[in-house]
Amino acid sequence: MSRKILVTSALPYANGPIHLGHLVEYIQTDIWVRFQKQRGNRCIYVCADDAHGTPIMLKARQEGISPEELIERIGREHREDFADFLIEFDNYYSTHSDENRYYAELIYTRLKEAGHITSRTIKQAYDPVENMFLPDRYIKGECPRCGAADQYGDSCEACGATYTPAELKNAVSVVSGAAPIERESEHYFFRLQDFESLLRNWAGSGHVQTEVANKLNEWFEEGLREWDISRDAPYFGFRIPNTENKYFYVWLDAPIGYMASFRNWCDRHGVDFDEYWKPDSDAELYHFIGKDIIYFHALFWPAMLHGAGFRMPTKVCAHGFLTVNGQKMSKSRGTFIMGRTFLRHLNPEYLRYYLAAKLGSSVHDLDLSLDDFIHRVNSDLVGKLVNIASRSASFINKRFDGRLADTLEEPAVYREFTSRGEAIAEAYENREFSRAIREIMQLADQANQYFDERKPWVLAKDETTLPQVQAICTQTLNLFRVLMAYLKPVVPRIAAAAEVFLQVENRHWDDVKQPLLGRPIGKFKPLATRVERDAVDAMLEESKETLAAAGQPAPSGPLAEDPIGEQIEIDDFTRVDLRIARITDAAYVDGADKLLQLTLDLGGEQRNVFAGLRSAYEPEQLKGRLTVMVANLKPRKMRFGLSEGMVLAAGPGGKELFVLEPDAGAQPGMRVK
Ligand code: MSP
Ligand code: ZN
Repeated sequence: MSRKILVTSALPYANGPIHLGHLVEYIQTDIWVRFQKQRGNRCIYVCADDAHGTPIMLKARQEGISPEELIERIGREHREDFADFLIEFDNYYSTHSDENRYYAELIYTRLKEAGHITSRTIKQAYDPVENMFLPDRYIKGECPRCGAADQYGDSCEACGATYTPAELKNAVSVVSGAAPIERESEHYFFRLQDFESLLRNWAGSGHVQTEVANKLNEWFEEGLREWDISRDAPYFGFRIPNTENKYFYVWLDAPIGYMASFRNWCDRHGVDFDEYWKPDSDAELYHFIGKDIIYFHALFWPAMLHGAGFRMPTKVCAHGFLTVNGQKMSKSRGTFIMGRTFLRHLNPEYLRYYLAAKLGSSVHDLDLSLDDFIHRVNSDLVGKLVNIASRSASFINKRFDGRLADTLEEPAVYREFTSRGEAIAEAYENREFSRAIREIMQLADQANQYFDERKPWVLAKDETTLPQVQAICTQTLNLFRVLMAYLKPVVPRIAAAAEVFLQVENRHWDDVKQPLLGRPIGKFKPLATRVERDAVDAMLEESKETLAAAGQPAPSGPLAEDPIGEQIEIDDFTRVDLRIARITDAAYVDGADKLLQLTLDLGGEQRNVFAGLRSAYEPEQLKGRLTVMVANLKPRKMRFGLSEGMVLAAGPGGKELFVLEPDAGAQPGMRVK
């Protein structure tokens, strides 16, 4: 009987681009969903942008746009990135939606009626200039333990101490620079402790991985505490019913976004929402998440659902974090790689394949070692798998008019391949993707070995053994077809190309039980090409460069919207040697998609400057113009050469970046004062 499964990935915040760390999760989930669909199950995959909260509100303000405009733009970018990594959501929505408001209010109201919501007054840091309460991360100061400067309000990166913002010394608000004051306000709380025995039972009965269950037990032992679910205005989110200026904390309505996205899909597909969410539902509910958000998904969320009369999750599947070359992703090493940057240099299916080859069902971190990546893709995907097809296809195409033989040479070998299908399926089902890949690649070795042992290239020299050649190649191509069907959840595009080549569609897992015999195949086209090291290096360089460009004049919003930092003395200003310069030459920089190389004339002296202006200007538009530059900036060595200064530009960035230009009469070399 086919199962009904609703699957989610965690909702990415709508304040930044998708990076390779995120993709671990979306690729893992997508593979599992594609596998379920191939097995004939009714599987629906929903996700959304997580659009609420202080960071999004402040980022929009900084860019001088509304939060709605910001989440619209980021939402579009996220969708494009996901689509290009072949992540196929049934619905991708936003938590800033009517459906989400509806379910957030409904769940809150039900919890309140059942007595699970309380309120009391708490003291919190408040920015007296911006008139807003400050989350811990928006307060900086000196560590109360070791004295390190510039530490966040919750913990010290230098000595690891944790503390409250009130304990920081010389604290300032990151938003306005003002010293925070303490202020009281009424907050609403969700009484998580009411659900302790429910959660203990749930966690102890196979709904989470063992490692997660152990962690939950630690939390149970420490004691569950009530959870602060309200925030004061100004806040970008949903106002709490029957309040003037209280909003749901972003983490309250974020998981409800799973329901909202599904509801939106149901309405468009005529599916009954309750069938999936009622307490005794026979549908399965799977949440894929990273290990950093277990508390929310394995404690708050099931408790909220149960308390509001909905079903609880079937499984919460947590994965570990991605490291690159054995270390935390790092901007300076170029290993903080955006999905978009990867796509500019490499084939998305290579990442899908590599991650699948590494992913198990545990919460261990996993490493993208770039040497290993190149090696695996080239030796497995190209060397083993595609090779099987290319070697045998050429005989069938050239010698047998593109027609497969009527019988297999070794039906038993074929049966062995199809009989391994259930073990591979079980590995996928249990999220043991690395095991599935290992099995598939072992079979690929076997298929290559079969072909090598039969030596069809020798048999093809003799007319009398030609029929054998056709039977051997037919056998080999059939083995290839089985393997591609098994790998289809991981590399759907390569699999689709293989289906075009073999002129057959493998929709269902069991479709390969019957071999292809006595039928035509198409022309073989290379299904995948080798990864070149140059492409990987270029990707790393470009990831570094993003940082170099960010070190350029920080693109920021209009002054009125922009928090003004500390005040400086006139001497501080005069230390900056601003000069009028003529841009005598401007050119693109090979391999740098953010930079332009400018030659600046300071009235005799020439300067070479790399400026992050490419998004806004063609070189031709800049040639001959006068502008303002920082002339005494320490020269900075970049990959492309020495940058000797900085030109001034204003605007939020992207296309909206405006180079400053002096009034008529100004001459190159004049000092700006
Ligand atoms: N918005 C919350 C989730 C709300 S779900 C109701 C959030 N967003 S996030 O953008 O920070 O992360 C989205 C998912 O990506 C999370 O599951 C997170 O664990 C995962 N990852 C983010 N960085 C990651 C790595 N470096 N490695 C692996 N997964 C990572 O959390
Ligand atoms: Zn410290």
